[in-house]
Amino acid sequence: MAAIGIWISVSSPGCKHPQAVTGLILARLEDLKRRGTIKFTFREDGIQRQGFLVYYQGEVVGYENVCRHIAITLDYGDGEFFDGEGTHLVCQTHGATYEPLSGLCIAGPCVGASLRKLELVLADGVVVLAKTK
Ligand code: FES
Repeated sequence: MAAIGIWISVSSPGCKHPQAVTGLILARLEDLKRRGTIKFTFREDGIQRQGFLVYYQGEVVGYENVCRHIAITLDYGDGEFFDGEGTHLVCQTHGATYEPLSGLCIAGPCVGASLRKLELVLADGVVVLAKTK
């Protein structure tokens, strides 16, 4: 298995038009399943950014770690993204509440806005961030 943090070329399993995608390995799927969320950093347009992976109801999604109310991270640096019930993502600053799989804010100061979803590929037991820029 390839190591976290390295770039690889993968093709999306099950895709009708398999095309190699270059991407950054973010996490092992088993680790994400066990932890629920995993934070990571990536570079885009020459800027260091922060993202986080979510495993919820058997699906994997990834978002930039930026609240849609004010452009600050959802967590306080502690990697906590879910509410106490484990059903929604919550910004710790003012409580914006997001649906885990869509990223849509359903309560709080930015209702109707959505977290920025990142393009992921699952391959060979790892979660890969597809390079878009
Ligand atoms: S900064 Fe996230 S709810 Fe205000």
